[in-house]
Amino acid sequence: MEAAVVDAGSKILKAGLAIPDQAPSLIIPTQMKRMLEDQDGFSADNSMSEDVTVDPVVRGCVKDWDAMEDLLHHVLYTGLEWEVGNEGQILFTEPLCTPKAVREQLVQLLFETFNVSGFYASEQAVLSLYAVGRISGCTVDIGHGKIDIAAVLEGAVQHIASRRFEVGGSDLTKLLAQELGKSNPMVNLGISDAEKLKEQFACCAEDEVAYDKMLRTSETEEHTLPDGQVIRIGREKYTVGEALFQPSILGLEAHGIVEQLVRSVATVSSENQKQLLENTVLCGGTTSMTGFESRFQKEASLCSSAIRPCLVKPPEYMPENLELYSAWVGGAILAKVVFPQNQHVTKADYDETGPSIVHRKCF
Ligand SMILES: Nc1ncnc2c1ncn2[C@@H]1O[C@H](COP(=O)(O)OP(=O)(O)OP(=O)(O)O)[C@@H](O)[C@H]1O
Ligand SMILES: [Mg+2]
Repeated sequence: MEAAVVDAGSKILKAGLAIPDQAPSLIIPTQMKRMLEDQDGFSADNSMSEDVTVDPVVRGCVKDWDAMEDLLHHVLYTGLEWEVGNEGQILFTEPLCTPKAVREQLVQLLFETFNVSGFYASEQAVLSLYAVGRISGCTVDIGHGKIDIAAVLEGAVQHIASRRFEVGGSDLTKLLAQELGKSNPMVNLGISDAEKLKEQFACCAEDEVAYDKMLRTSETEEHTLPDGQVIRIGREKYTVGEALFQPSILGLEAHGIVEQLVRSVATVSSENQKQLLENTVLCGGTTSMTGFESRFQKEASLCSSAIRPCLVKPPEYMPENLELYSAWVGGAILAKVVFPQNQHVTKADYDETGPSIVHRKCF
């Protein structure tokens, strides 16, 4: 049986058996609903269910382990059709700077609760580069909960040249909701409707000048929300995209995304800087925003540094919209190497050393 590969993001969980060159077979929300239980421990009927949502993964990191266990149970036994008593091997993706305790808890959960036969974990940045056929380069991963800017040389993350920001698509959704609230005071807009509007309409202006011009126009379009309310959207859709290039819009004192990338990489030798920046990969759902890639390229071409970022084109044989699940695809590629070559954590390793074995075997 092929190993299972799981990329549990803050909003979307991607999972599937390790068949590279394919999109993951399971793409589901990570968020769960907590059901009320009656006194006998049975779930109350649906009409009684408490509408409380739980996010097992927050800003890329597992925060609620009970919810994570339930989610993985569903993913592995229902989604990927694992059989109880005949569990397979599993590879997990991890964001930059995953705390050691989180890695240990994950490996413990998988061996002790799920009885997996082998485990491996690898950083999302390294995997996203594998997906485009590189072992060195930079990744700019803008997901739902975080932005990871990473420099990778020969398959190893260069931590001094990498940065993590606790900002992501969820903050852009809040920004859009806030802006639309100001321009449509009579509309009652929930966060999930705002997120759908963001995914459909948010975009990036060509450059700062075009954005400033956009701010002065008063063109708007009407859209009907699922509950029938009508909302007018105009320049707000550009403000959301602009926030990635001008973080002050979000109230942050940080440089725009291209400047951040160049500054992160500036800490390594100029020879390495060239190899890194000239192999830049955009990934994460937020980078699929209309106009993001061309704005990124425009800013890169205007960049004052001697070495400018250049984007890598995904190979043609890769699935469409690779940026949405490039970490998963890279995980599927790596799984085809680490498990057959026995580089993974085996059950015997785990039993002998305990959860800390993960730091020795997965790096
Ligand atoms: N077309 C789009 N325009 C803008 N945002 C989008 C678009 N498509 C998806 N997104 C956003 O991308 C985010 C999801 O991306 P992704 O699946 O990479 O995140 P994740 O892996 O769940 O989170 P993280 O890696 O931060 O833990 C959401 O915030 C979603 O709203
Ligand atoms: Mg992600």
